Amino acid sequence: MTTHHPSSAQAAPVTTPAPDPAAGRAVHAADRAHVFHSWSAQGQIDPLAVAGAEGSFFWDYEGKRYLDFTSGLVFTNIGYGHPKVVAAIQEQAAKLCTFAPAFAIEARSEAARLIAERTPGDLDKIFFTNGGADAVEHAVRMARVHTGRPKVLSAYRSYHGGTQQAINITGDPRRWASDTGTGGVVHFHAPHLYRTPFYSETEEQECERALAHLEQTIVYEGPQTVAAVILETIPGTAGIMMPPPGYLAGVRELCDKYGVVFILDEVMAGFGRTGTWFAADLYDVVPDLMTFAKGVNSGYVPLGGVAISAKIAETFENRPYPGGLTYSGHPLACAAAVATIETMAEEGIVEHAAHLGENVIGPALRELAERHPSVGEVRGTGVFWALDLVRDKETREPLVSYNATGADNAPMADFAATAKRGGLWPFVNMNRTHVVPPCTITEAEFKEGLAVLDEALTAADAHTTAGSGTDAGRPQAG
Ligand SMILES: Cc1ncc(COP(=O)(O)O)c(C=O)c1O
Repeated sequence: MTTHHPSSAQAAPVTTPAPDPAAGRAVHAADRAHVFHSWSAQGQIDPLAVAGAEGSFFWDYEGKRYLDFTSGLVFTNIGYGHPKVVAAIQEQAAKLCTFAPAFAIEARSEAARLIAERTPGDLDKIFFTNGGADAVEHAVRMARVHTGRPKVLSAYRSYHGGTQQAINITGDPRRWASDTGTGGVVHFHAPHLYRTPFYSETEEQECERALAHLEQTIVYEGPQTVAAVILETIPGTAGIMMPPPGYLAGVRELCDKYGVVFILDEVMAGFGRTGTWFAADLYDVVPDLMTFAKGVNSGYVPLGGVAISAKIAETFENRPYPGGLTYSGHPLACAAAVATIETMAEEGIVEHAAHLGENVIGPALRELAERHPSVGEVRGTGVFWALDLVRDKETREPLVSYNATGADNAPMADFAATAKRGGLWPFVNMNRTHVVPPCTITEAEFKEGLAVLDEALTAADAHTTAGSGTDAGRPQAG
């Protein structure tokens, strides 16, 4: 038994190799001298030198082991180093390591077939990209050419990627520095009852008001100028907000009413994370275009793509699609996708994710929320959960302010440092921590992480109005 099989009740413990601090120092020094990191002030970061990873764990050169509650950047849905996928990549490398995109290649054909078999409705043509952002770029380009319209509407609470158009489409603050020449992007408020922009008191109100707001935005922008509405089916980095029942179906109706292309971004939510193959399956909604990446091959080799409906594919039947990539459908990446999808099916990984969400992770996180004054809301499904941390449960004031840095971010820094000391690598974004381990995590591993999360939340409690000083984290009266 290995750590990979989700149904293995007692996975074998991961044994880390002997520590090698000198090698770790060399890796770190070369990184600091030459590697330019994403989204960072280069002089203010101190990246951990990682020696290896397996299943739900990784370890450093000192021999310290971390349980990864982040799945990298929410991509190792089948955990690190799954032997079947590693072997498939090795076999493909030996057979046909690379080939140009204009040819029919077995691994590419098979990956497209397996993906199309699982995507909802008639999303049966697959355009492969190198990752999520370029999938979003191409989905929007397809929508613009298909409709002949320029604008794209997206949600403020969203992340769609770091390339120029995708970062403009993104709602979160990472777009601000690149918000020049936004190319017809208009943002709107998607539903989020806990922090409602519509003063709603129920999910029904939030749904109704969010749909009215979106329709008003389309009308005021001029429907004849709107090519697409793009939404993450369940927004990921922005906070794992499950859309209220009826919202996505309502957006589908609005798009049909105004001739707008409906794009769902499943880069983070797709491929098992929500306990279904795609988050769209939970809402019984079929978009015109759907983007994917990350979990498609657990991030073992860069890959993303757009699943295209019959209607939009038809536009490009006798008219060239004005776009392409040197590595579209790279054989190594596609072989990894084939092996990942087959492994997920054979090992029941999607079912395991659903079981964890319903019976293990969801109940455990709700129990934490009852005990910790810092936990304002727990939301999610499958292996895709957020804890919205607050200074005060009554007012819902976030534990740190929007986009806080430095001293203002101390409570979240405290939380993260406590988790790491305990051997848990946490996902932290603004005032939230997300619980997004590999979908293959065992119940025993999850419980190990839960105990550390409990301690880290106790550190966060100290920053709440309820928990100053040493009383933090104790059960609250009343
Ligand atoms: C929903 C969503 N879309 C797009 C992206 C961009 O993907 P990539 O970083 O592979 O370009 C991400 C990345 O986190 C994402 O979560």
